[in-house]
Amino acid sequence: VPTVRVALLGAGNVGAEVARILLTDAVELGERIGARPKLIGIAVRDVDSPRTVTLPLELFTTDADALIDDADVVVELTGGIEPAKTRILRALNAGKPVISGNKALLAQHGEQLHAAAEAAGTSISYEAAVAGAIPIVRPMLDSLSGDKVKRVLGIMNGTTNYILDQMDTTGASFDDALAEAQRLGYAEADPTADVEGHDAASKVAILGGIAFHSSYTFDDVYCRGITGVTAEDVEAARRSGFVIKLLGVAERVTEGEGDQAQEKVNLRVVPTMLPRKHPLAGVHGAFNAVFVEAENAGELMFYGPGAGGAPTASAVMGDLVAALRRSVAGGPGVGPTFHAGLPATGMDGVKTSF
Ligand code: HSE
Repeated sequence: VPTVRVALLGAGNVGAEVARILLTDAVELGERIGARPKLIGIAVRDVDSPRTVTLPLELFTTDADALIDDADVVVELTGGIEPAKTRILRALNAGKPVISGNKALLAQHGEQLHAAAEAAGTSISYEAAVAGAIPIVRPMLDSLSGDKVKRVLGIMNGTTNYILDQMDTTGASFDDALAEAQRLGYAEADPTADVEGHDAASKVAILGGIAFHSSYTFDDVYCRGITGVTAEDVEAARRSGFVIKLLGVAERVTEGEGDQAQEKVNLRVVPTMLPRKHPLAGVHGAFNAVFVEAENAGELMFYGPGAGGAPTASAVMGDLVAALRRSVAGGPGVGPTFHAGLPATGMDGVKTSF
């Protein structure tokens, strides 16, 4: 089997797991793909930083550009806007497929990255950017591409679900539950992105764009986090048969009436009182679940681990295998493209209970 050269950018929780999988499963993956993926290097800011997985030191480099230029395919798991964006564009412009888990970047510059990939006849894939291990990006792009999605509704942040679940089941305070979520490695390095809803908002922008064949950014999403949710709020909800969940929603709405009626999409992240019998009310711990309502498919629920190194690495590996299979098949490699779809709305008149 021929070899394909894989560059990895980042060796955090997820990156280190991707490296481990590539090193241990290369032979089997090679048979599955028709070309053996060879991890040629891992670009990091500091070679001596502690890692969650022991990896061969000779793989580490601080020269990301040289590593990208030397690779056939690039996996970006560094997070943040820069230098991730410049590096991804460097790879795409050279016609190299990119796999990324960078939701903040995709939710701000997704359109530019897709355009660069399309222009160079290559692809950018990002299953890992939304809901960890749960296959949701590609099922929405592929399996549901012939349907008409009405609404996407979900628990898209494991840290906040863990916190709210702890508060609900043990009566814990917000601060104690957050500390435990951080200890378990669910929270982002800066938990503000989790608890203020920003992480979920990026995911809503990405999933909403896919669901409605449009392109939205983080700024299109109305966002309210859970820092204002108190133990008393959780207890009051519990006593009335509800549970408070941080929901991410992207839904088709009609604004105006008669001749003035216009279809738009509302995107939001809000703490929501859910009746205990709602399927999303039973999602515990750091698990995520995405509920999709489509015109012909009806209601679908995607459920699983939404955070964590190995689960998220599984999503990265799926994208990598798919991208390499496309290259091996000599196919056009072009990923999804987004064209002008439905405009985003504000919050006026949007119904927020379920
Ligand atoms: N911190 C995120 C979460 C990780 O808690 O869901 C996945 O984006």
